This record gives sequence, structure tokens and C-alpha cells, in this order.
Amino acid sequence: MSGTAVYFPSDAKIPNEVRLVAADGQYNLITPLPGSILQSLEDQFVIGTRRLLSIAAAFKSQMKEGLANRPVSLKMLPSFIGKPTGLEEGAFLAVDFGGTNVRIMLVVLLGQGQYQITKKKSFPLKDPLGIYDFTAPDAAGTQMFDYIAEQIKDFTTCRQNYLLGHTFSFPSHHAGINEACLLYWTKEIRTQNVEGEDINRLLLEALQRNNVENVKPVAILNDTVATMLATSYSDKDCDLGSICGTGHNTCYLEKHTFGHESMIINIESGNFNQLPFLIYDELLDKMSVRPGEQRLEKMVGGYYLGEIVRLVVLDLVEKGFLLVGNNTGAQIHRAYSIKAEHVSAMLADQNPHLNDIDLWCRDYLGIDGSSPADRAVMKKISELVVNRAAGLVSATYIGILNHVDEQLASNHTVAVDGSVYEKIPGFSSTVSKILSEMTGENGQLIKLKTAQDASGIGAAVAAAMVQQTE
Ligand code: GLC
Repeated sequence: MSGTAVYFPSDAKIPNEVRLVAADGQYNLITPLPGSILQSLEDQFVIGTRRLLSIAAAFKSQMKEGLANRPVSLKMLPSFIGKPTGLEEGAFLAVDFGGTNVRIMLVVLLGQGQYQITKKKSFPLKDPLGIYDFTAPDAAGTQMFDYIAEQIKDFTTCRQNYLLGHTFSFPSHHAGINEACLLYWTKEIRTQNVEGEDINRLLLEALQRNNVENVKPVAILNDTVATMLATSYSDKDCDLGSICGTGHNTCYLEKHTFGHESMIINIESGNFNQLPFLIYDELLDKMSVRPGEQRLEKMVGGYYLGEIVRLVVLDLVEKGFLLVGNNTGAQIHRAYSIKAEHVSAMLADQNPHLNDIDLWCRDYLGIDGSSPADRAVMKKISELVVNRAAGLVSATYIGILNHVDEQLASNHTVAVDGSVYEKIPGFSSTVSKILSEMTGENGQLIKLKTAQDASGIGAAVAAAMVQQTE
């Protein structure tokens, strides 16, 4: 085993004498926990309203800096699209490339904010049985897009022509609504020869290589933008779109910029970095594919929530506070072995003895003798990690709302999509509660709306908006 130094930002709340021990790609941490375990964890994870308000203020000020092209963590990327009228009509093909799963949909926009999804399919870019993995560092972009083109070919009929809207959920620099170059991969994807490339050109070339002549990509947009478009198709107050899923990001309608009337800006808020990091966040970041990047996303994204929980659990096990006398098995020592769905399951267990958590400890983690107290601590850790995420997400919403409407005097609908928001017990209600606490009376004007299938519907709305202007 070899010791590795860890460096922390000066404002981080870190217990004294932190040591990181790494061996064979595995990592452990040893920190002395002062006082009672739970109190110490609460001290670290609970972020009070005042602190959240100062995070919101820092976020707002970085938005301003980013809009002025100063090098801050918020990218503030123009999307070259504004709000729909709600009258857009027609049938469009939507591709939703949000992570390791891609979805294709046929969306019929009926006008008056109404739509139907008439056909859909989804497929993984990484085969669960390990036969192929187009997201790995040895995969090439052409192979990945050829695969997507083949799926589009199977999905469509050759007798019909289609305009395609592409929701591509990665930070991209737009030169127009149909021209976006990937800045860098996020969500731990590492496919070669895609960064820096014009994504819809790669898709078009793949369609051509596969003799798909009847499908024409006309728009490319971030999933936050798609979420906002899908909701604002029927709700004129919608001016924020957000994803709380595997990754996290938010966009908003900027009224005065870039010489255009108004345009949706993809903030890439998952990269925000003015945050109170804990040792667990530092450790997770250090061992991630892109250390130093996506710091907010690494505290709130579904990809990472389980890993934070695992690091805390492991810390307590190492110190002899949790699962004492148990053989904890290898699973808990494996990075990312605890997933967001396990966190959800822990939060959902209402049994007085937390029997479901017990079952999961046995079957999945290979831990036989967890006590009800151990399980209560594990549930508490999950709660703290999830509530902190909800608080941080709310702080960014307040930062954005203050930017667009300093007095919070108008109605605002925040459209939210994603598995964390929809599936993690208590997440959405906590966001709503914290937003009220942060805004007082004016908070009544802020409405949160769940936007299901928004990536597909928004892509269709974008394609329809392009068609109208052509
Ligand atoms: C990541 C991507 C961002 C996307 C978000 C949600 O943060 O960088 O573009 O919107 O995930 O999918």
C-alpha cells in the first residue's frame, strides 16, 4: 500500500488528519470522526439556508462572468434556439443520446401544446453481456455513429422522409442550431475521435455510409434545452429546463444576448465549482475520469450519489463505527458498487427493522450480520447525501431565477426531467421545500414541473421550429 497526498480547497470542511490509502486502484480513507457519528455526518452534509443563498449568489455571479466569456466554471453555451409558440405541427424523428442508452422516437406534434409519441425504441451503446462497448476508450466515434445509424435505419421506413432532432446531452459549442461540436465527454464516456467534432455531421456521415437517404438531421440540442422546449410548448411561463438524472445541468431563457432577441443558454451547471467540498467529494473527484471537472454534478448526479454513500459507509467501517465484527466482503470495496437505485431502495425502506436494507446487504454486498442500528446509519447516510444534492440543485435554480428576474416578481416554471428527480424518494419534494425556504413568499410564483420523455419531444419541437424558418 502506498500513501497518496490529497489537497483540499481552503474553504472545505474537512476533519483533521485525513489520510488516503490507495492500493491496486482501490482506495480507502481514514479520518478521525469527532463526537457522535451521526452528528458529525450531519455537520458535514447539512447545508443551511444562509449557505445555500450564498451559493446561489456565487452561481449568479458566475453566470454573468460566463456570459461575458470570462473563464469561469459555468460555460453558458448558446443554443441558437428560443421558445416555441406551441403551434408547431408535424411528425419528426427524435434521437435522444443522453448517456450509455440511446432512444429513438417518432413524435407527432399536434399544435396547441399537444403531442403523441407514436413509436419508440431504446438500445445500449454498451452491451450488458460485454459483447460491444462503443463508450470505451478503444471505441471509435465512427463505429458508435454507424451503430446509431443502423438502429435508425431499422426504426424508419424507407418510403418516408424524416426531419431529425438530435438531443445530445454533452457540453457542445454551437455555431448554429444544427452545428454543435462536442467540447468534452462527460458521464465517464471515452469514445475516441468525437471530442472537437461536429456531432450532427458525424451522424449524417454515418447515415450516408449506411444508405439512409431519407433521414435529415436539422437540429441538435442539449437535453436541458429539450426539456425546456417540451414544457414551454404548452406552458408559456417555462423559462428554465433542468436534468436531475445520471448527470445534472440546467438551461434558461436569456432575454438579451448575442444580438438575438432571446435565446436558450445551456449553462453546463454540472461544472459549477464554488461549493463546500467534503473529503468524500475530493476523493471521488480524484479517482474520476476527469478530476477537477463537473464538481457539482459529482455531488448531485445519479451516477455519483451511490459512490458518495459508499465512501461514507466505507469510512465508518474502516474506523470501526459501522458493521463491526462483520466480514464486509469485497463488494463494498469496489468503486461505484453502490448505485443510485440502491440509495433509492434504502430510502424507501420503511420497515422498523429495515429488513429490505438487510436483504440487500446480504444478497448484494455479501454482508450477513448487519444490525438494525447499522442499517439505520446507512439509511441516514443516504438521506444526508440526497438532501444535500437537493439543496445544491435548489441553490442553482435560485441563482438562475435571480439572474432572470431579480425581484422574483413573475411566474416561472422550472421543467425538470431525470431519474434522480423522478425516482429517488423525497428528492423532488425536498427541492420544492428548499426553494420555498430560500424565497419566502415570492416562492409561490415558482412552479416545478416534471417533464417526462422531454428529450424526445423537445427534439421534435426544435426540428419543427427549424422547419418553420426554412
Ligand atoms: C452532463 C452534460 C450535460 C447534460 C447533463 C444531463 O452534465 O455535460 O450537457 O445536460 O449531463 O444529462
